Amino acid sequence: MSIKSLIRNIPDYPKKGIMFRDITTLFGDAEGLREVIDTLAGEFQDQKIDVIAGIEARGFIIGPAVALALGVGFVPVRKKGKLPAETVSVEYDLEYGSDIIEMHVDAIKPGQRVLILDDLIATGGTALAAIELVKKAGGVPVSCAFIIDLPDLGGADRIRNAGVPVFNMVEFE
Ligand code: PRP
Ligand code: ADE
Repeated sequence: MSIKSLIRNIPDYPKKGIMFRDITTLFGDAEGLREVIDTLAGEFQDQKIDVIAGIEARGFIIGPAVALALGVGFVPVRKKGKLPAETVSVEYDLEYGSDIIEMHVDAIKPGQRVLILDDLIATGGTALAAIELVKKAGGVPVSCAFIIDLPDLGGADRIRNAGVPVFNMVEFE
């Protein structure tokens, strides 16, 4: 089955008017999960990635698997107040609300090449905030990668306009 057909669509979640793209059904399928990890690892194996920054929560599911495949470390980008040591933080807008994300200030060594990973890009607010976090921590945001892009919301274009390449596997309207 195709990756796209393994993603479940939930209307009006978490708010009326939002079509939620649910990747739990994709991750629950052994072949689908393998294709996601193999595709993401294959795309970046020659890009000299030093570390993967995965965005809470669904970037935590794919991030460590891709990091293992590339032979690099994994750094969590978390919602406010979850990380125990000194952090850098950035506030950002969501398709439905706003939030703050944080990263440990010492999670990335100066000049390290960072791949930012999440399940989905919508408005791009989260990924842009993650790019700022990586820069604040002294890293180089090499690329952002997602399983899903919602191109109508313009997020991938915002990231590219900020000078960071974007890779995604599927698109939904
Ligand atoms: C979703 C998704 C991305 C973000 C994309 O996470 O996993 O992180 O929204 O939206 P954007 O491009 O408009 O910023 P969500 O904020 O729902 O958090 P969760 O994964 O913790 O549920
Ligand atoms: N995050 C932001 N918009 C989303 C959507 N439509 N489906 C799943 N996750 C999302």
